[in-house]
Amino acid sequence: MFNEMHWGKKNRMGEIIQPDGRALMLAIDHGYFMGPTRGMEVPSEALAPLLDHADSLMLSPGILGSSVPTSFKGGVVLRASGGNSILDEDMSNEAVILSARQAVNLNASGVAISIYVGAENQHQTLLNLAQTIEDASEYGLPVLGVTAVGKEMKEKSAAKRFLALSCRIAAELGADIVKTYYCEGFEEVVTKTPVPIVIAGGPKLDTYEDILNLCHNALERGAIGVDMGRNIWQSEHPAAIIQGVRGIVHGGLSVKEALDLVNSLADDSTRRKQYFAAHPDDAKVQEKH
Ligand code: R5P
Repeated sequence: MFNEMHWGKKNRMGEIIQPDGRALMLAIDHGYFMGPTRGMEVPSEALAPLLDHADSLMLSPGILGSSVPTSFKGGVVLRASGGNSILDEDMSNEAVILSARQAVNLNASGVAISIYVGAENQHQTLLNLAQTIEDASEYGLPVLGVTAVGKEMKEKSAAKRFLALSCRIAAELGADIVKTYYCEGFEEVVTKTPVPIVIAGGPKLDTYEDILNLCHNALERGAIGVDMGRNIWQSEHPAAIIQGVRGIVHGGLSVKEALDLVNSLADDSTRRKQYFAAHPDDAKVQEKH
């Protein structure tokens, strides 16, 4: 898939995309604009049971330094755009917050930049991606383009066109991998995007079966994997569901087989530790992101 790349970039891509062509990225970067997100209040503890099951982590430099053991052998994709918060009316006001040099210094496998197509600061966020791609090319550092979705994708029926537009723009600017959302007609989004696509999980779904179905459908329709967060670490049994997702991404499991696996692992030993009661405003946050 990436034969023409030089050794450094190929090696780093290999830390994200595995030899089977698939990727299981664990997204825990939410705190860069959402603060202590439910389920990720104490990152080192929430992460510990998950580290062995993810190919790579997507996270902010601060959480890498404070909460991930240096013995972690998987890939690391660092969030490189930010400067906004969930309290902003328009969350698209982002700038580049991490240089490629700093990312390489932290031993990153890649960096991630969000683009907000159709939003007030669309132009700036596209320049953030373009600028980082140029910066990263000096170091053979892969760039993940993240298609953020705000109020611009109002209608569910318009999702396919909006996501195809956003993904294609990220690919045209030179993103090596694009992260987007699953939607009806997803195969068209994949076909129109000439680089590998991973899907975000989005807000917490109701059941393990829903989560596994989402993964299975996305892979069947052309995604190479997932970069999933809340549907793993906000689940009742994070270490169980991540193994089910892994079974689908890398093990070729059906939804039923993966669900049986999750159910067999869902016991007290894999139960998520609840530190604080959910705040009523958490639901509002989910509506915004
Ligand atoms: C924004 O918060 C991030 O880029 C997340 O990594 C992304 O939304 C994926 O996480 P989730 O599966 O929770 O949607």
